[in-house]
Amino acid sequence: PPAQPPVRPSTQVLVASNRGPVSYTLATDGSLDAKRGGGGLVSGLSAVDDKLWVCAALGDGDREAVRRGVGEPGVRMLDIDADVHADAYNGIANSVLWFVHHMLYQTPLEPVFDAEFRRQWASFESYNRAFAEALAEEAERGAAVLVQDYHLALVPGMLRELRPDLRIGHFSHTPWAPVDYFRLLPDDIAEQLLHGILGADRAAFLTRRWADAFIGCCTQILGGTGHTRIGVHGLGADADFLRRRAHEADVDERMAALREQTGPGRRTIVRVDRTELSKNIVRGLLAYRALLDERPEWRERVVHVAFAYPSRQDLAVYRDYTAEVQRVADEINAVYGTAGWTPVVLHVKDDFARSLAAYRLADVALVNPIRDGMNLVAKEIPVVSDHGCALVLSREAGAYEELGSDAVVVNPYDVSATAAALHEALSMADDERAARTERLAAAAVALPPQQWFLDQLDALRRD
Ligand code: G6P
Repeated sequence: PPAQPPVRPSTQVLVASNRGPVSYTLATDGSLDAKRGGGGLVSGLSAVDDKLWVCAALGDGDREAVRRGVGEPGVRMLDIDADVHADAYNGIANSVLWFVHHMLYQTPLEPVFDAEFRRQWASFESYNRAFAEALAEEAERGAAVLVQDYHLALVPGMLRELRPDLRIGHFSHTPWAPVDYFRLLPDDIAEQLLHGILGADRAAFLTRRWADAFIGCCTQILGGTGHTRIGVHGLGADADFLRRRAHEADVDERMAALREQTGPGRRTIVRVDRTELSKNIVRGLLAYRALLDERPEWRERVVHVAFAYPSRQDLAVYRDYTAEVQRVADEINAVYGTAGWTPVVLHVKDDFARSLAAYRLADVALVNPIRDGMNLVAKEIPVVSDHGCALVLSREAGAYEELGSDAVVVNPYDVSATAAALHEALSMADDERAARTERLAAAAVALPPQQWFLDQLDALRRD
């Protein structure tokens, strides 16, 4: 055969993730409304010109957009069969892999890996295969492909077989389970997941701790990580965007409304989360209740502003958890509330401008997840805070590695210790709080999204 001409390194960058940068809803008049998402990946990728984002169509609006050929330049949505997607996303990704990495199982009764699990696993494989095939079809020779998260853990291995010329990276946005817990999974599935990610040239994580856990699993289960290199990139807050956005008029309006709700002169303890099992919202409320109970001096003087936005409502455990959050908040208000004071202000409708308003006025931020890949709320609050905010932070959040020294650190299961931490944070002297907030903000912006993304790309292309 004739000699191949030397290949110029491709500048093309492909990103693959379950949730894409845009989603569509079908309006009653039949038109499609596009909603653009934010997040680290969106701002990270804005640093690159020659790019394609491959994602799944997630609802009827997205599917209709694919059928009509409506879309954004640089985005390819995959119209995967709705039942296959539901099995892969709800069944495997969010009910098994998410549970394993966040250690959420109540192990006397779950997990149960049976025929139903095997059926869903087959869907998970074909969903991953659809991504691998689309990427293989779209990628130029030698292009860089950055595969995101647990949903697509099998993609690197599948893509490597289809296209050995590509530079493939995988990034985990979640924690990684320690080997003794990871081994809950059936042996062949555990091996398949590890081999899937090891199909990448480089597998990267948010913290050293998660990277080490992955290496531990590979070493004990497979005997090593093979040729795959392991990296750590701790995503930081997007300071420029946040500081600008937090001072727009709609945020000012919501600050005024929140101040009205909390009442003049009162301290605020703020939390902002998806209503997510791993975020530990209920224990946060119980800790606040214990604070009011044990330290009556705070009654009437503090309000817990809790934003718990809807998430994964197709899953019964998430619906139950949402109801429990509401129930506990109502109970605290019923027991402790007075005519002029509502102890808990709970909002469940997603509103980014209102979140930023709460970030600005918070005296204390409560970030107490059971386990969390990073937790950007912990990084965003110090960056936009108006007058300094004390951070109560779980040692099980990835952000703890970077922020631990200036936070009030808690064991997320210890409700009494969390109550004591809230008291300590509320009592912190103004100058101490301001100084800590400044250091927290500096640590939080150390690796802004664009740099975070470019670092991964450079490392993938370099070695
Ligand atoms: C975590 C995951 C992301 C996911 C996000 C929201 O941050 O790492 O991959 O997109 O949660 O969850 P959802 O299921 O709504 O996409």
